[in-house]
Amino acid sequence: MNNFTFYSPTLFAFGDGEEQNTGALVRRFGGTKVLMVYGGGSIKRNGAYDDAAASLRAAGIPWVELGGVQPNPRSGKVYEGIELCRREGVDFILAVGGGSAIDTAKAIGVGVPYDGDFWDFFSKQAAEKTVPVGVVLTLSATGSEASDSSVITLEGENLKWGNIKSDIYRPVFAVMNPRYTCSLPAYQTASGATDMLSHIMERYFTPTEHVDVTDRLCEGLMKTILTAAPKALADPSDYNARADLMWAGMLAHNNLCGVGRRQDWASHQIEHELSALYDCAHGAGLAVVTPAWMTYVMDRDIARFAQFAVRVFGCEMDFHQPENTARAGVERLVAWLRSIGMPTTFAEIGARAEDIPALVAHRAKKPGAFPFGGFTPIHEDDMTAILELAAR
Ligand code: NZQ
Ligand code: ZN
Repeated sequence: MNNFTFYSPTLFAFGDGEEQNTGALVRRFGGTKVLMVYGGGSIKRNGAYDDAAASLRAAGIPWVELGGVQPNPRSGKVYEGIELCRREGVDFILAVGGGSAIDTAKAIGVGVPYDGDFWDFFSKQAAEKTVPVGVVLTLSATGSEASDSSVITLEGENLKWGNIKSDIYRPVFAVMNPRYTCSLPAYQTASGATDMLSHIMERYFTPTEHVDVTDRLCEGLMKTILTAAPKALADPSDYNARADLMWAGMLAHNNLCGVGRRQDWASHQIEHELSALYDCAHGAGLAVVTPAWMTYVMDRDIARFAQFAVRVFGCEMDFHQPENTARAGVERLVAWLRSIGMPTTFAEIGARAEDIPALVAHRAKKPGAFPFGGFTPIHEDDMTAILELAAR
């Protein structure tokens, strides 16, 4: 196990009814005027908006609003939010929604106290100050409610990049009522489950040895997601399945499962190019990329892929030819993804094989673009080969 520091300062208020504490939490973390950030209106239909408004009102906290954040959130809303915060004297940002609302709130948070362009924090330097961000979560997926990440697409150039690492992006609190996620369309529930599974896999596939404790944490979480997602899809109002998914999504990405080991993140890097170009759901893009990545890289450590197959999917170990076990794990993953309604082919997310050179070239615009991936380095020709596998 490698040395590590682990910092996860977020306060979690988890469960049905906890949303009533939102206003009090804003106050506890020093907020006196709020910017409420949300998406295209789901929160107005499922009650999350009314609940947040009632709780802020009860705590005597005034607010202004920035709605209309799109999935795969764009820089335009960030600039708008920064301007609004400065004009209105906002000292606390409350995201009500999924990863896109939260990531927009985080980017606004670091942009407000900064004289330059917030995009500097996504292209060249780590942010050191932020307006505090709190979250009311309505979608179990990204783990952004406790993560140190924000992912924004710079309009014009269509660059979908994550922030330069800094713990400053971790929200001060997250209100997590699983009931809010009961209104999710099945496709979003499935995309979210795929995303959280991927966050664990990006950590699980590591070249670091002797990481048993995090291996076992990862395996337990993955197995929980494999069971809970079909339950939530079969009965969207299944509170316990929703609760398992919501907490698993947070644990998948606050880095509890990633400490002490080198992490991969190649599938995510490749996927961000897909959702930048085709505007597909992030989880759906991962469902297409991840099995292709696994197939391409598994021979670098067959034992680890076989372990995944046996411990997570219950495959039988072939001691003579462990590569058969490793391959069976990928097949079982693909079958599970299909069973929850995820795409697993290029065409299903509107992607085209002839775009592969452009996808690789677009990635190359990122500072330090190649190689990427902590499990095994991915160069331009590797990325091309992985995308070609995904396109088959
Ligand atoms: O916009 P509204 O109307 O709110 O509808 C949203 C949106 O259409 C809807 N939705 C959310 N909660 C709902 C609901 N519909 C009904 N009932 C509810 N309770 O779901 C749609 C997708 O929302 P979005 O926030 O875009 O989804 P998600 O949470 O999956 O976020 C995806 C974004 O996060 C980034 C992704 O790349 C993508 O841009 N990621 C952020 C990470 C982070 N900050 O740590 C890590 C991830 O790896 C990921 O890259
Ligand atoms: Zn993700």
